[in-house]
Formats: sequence, C-alpha cells, structure tokens
Amino acid sequence: MQKKSGGRIFLIGFMGSGKSSLGKKLAGALQYDFVDTDKMIEAAAGKSVADIFAQEGEAYFRERERETLAQLAERENIVVATGGGMACSYDNISSMNRLGVTIYLKAEPKLLAHRLAKYKDKRPLLRATAQENLDKFIAEILQEREPFYRRADLTLPARNLTAQTVLTVINAAFSPEA
Ligand code: S3P
Repeated sequence: MQKKSGGRIFLIGFMGSGKSSLGKKLAGALQYDFVDTDKMIEAAAGKSVADIFAQEGEAYFRERERETLAQLAERENIVVATGGGMACSYDNISSMNRLGVTIYLKAEPKLLAHRLAKYKDKRPLLRATAQENLDKFIAEILQEREPFYRRADLTLPARNLTAQTVLTVINAAFSPEA
C-alpha cells in the first residue's frame, strides 16, 4: 500500500471497541492531536450526544458527523476516534479512506456488551435494551455495519491492542516498498 499523506488516522468500530482510549495513546506516541468526533459535536452543540438524539433526532446527529468529518479534512497530524455509526452513514468511509489511514477495531458482541454495561445509558441507541439482551442486539447492528467497517484499510482485534502494535502494523502496511 502507498503511504497516505496528511497524517490522519481514523479509528472506526462499534461503541465500546476502545477507539478513544487507544486513540489517545496512539496520538501521544505519534505526537499528533487526539480528536473525538462525539466531543467535537457536543462542544459545537453545547449539549450531549444523548440530548442531541433526544431533541433533534438521529438524522440530525448524522448530519453533524458529516460536517465534522469535512472539518477534519482541514487538519493534519491527528488521530480521530469516530462515533460508532459515523463510518456507516453517508459515504463517510470513502471520505476517511481518502483522507487518511482507517483502522477497524473489531470486537465480538459479547465483549462489547460486557464493556458497555456501565455506559449504556450514555448511548441513545442502546439505552432501551436490557442488559441480558445486549449482546444479541449488538450482534444485529454489527451485522448491518460490518460491510462499512470492513472497508477500513486495516482491521485489528480490539482486545489487548496496544499503540505500539498499531504503529507496527501501520508502518508495515504503508511503507513505501509494501
Ligand atoms: C453511536 C456511537 C456513539 C455516538 C452515538 C451513536 C453509534 O459513539 O456517536 O451515541 O451509532 O454507534 P461511540 O462509538 O464513541 O460510543
């Protein structure tokens, strides 16, 4: 694969796959800025993602995600933790693939359900689902989303993933001779 210019890394994947925590470590290791698209949207709107979903609806939130991505095209040397649905609406995955290196953090529904148990109420899409049905519900949404996630440049297992492993994989995949 040819090295991509611009120094942009997009972490994509389901809620709870660890995009933000890995993203911060990766940004630190690369001395890039860390960006969280949910946080950007919340700062611009002056309210939480949950409130945006409740008051303006999901379609409005997806529009804000698309705008956020357009803004990120103006920035360089960034590691971006995307909201879990961002890669799956509009043609955002193509835009991200054009703008930088995209990495899908892949995780099993069971692991995601376990990790999300405590934070479910902050996620409008999961709020209404009882904990015991969560992994089945996640599996259904994942199935719809996988075709988008799979279009990432790289897919890595989300469990026990370190920033160093990610950097090694990126360097191997995007070195000039690869
Ligand atoms: C969403 C994921 C959330 C947030 C919103 C919708 C989704 O982000 O953007 O609640 O559709 O998967 P995280 O993946 O950071 O939880």
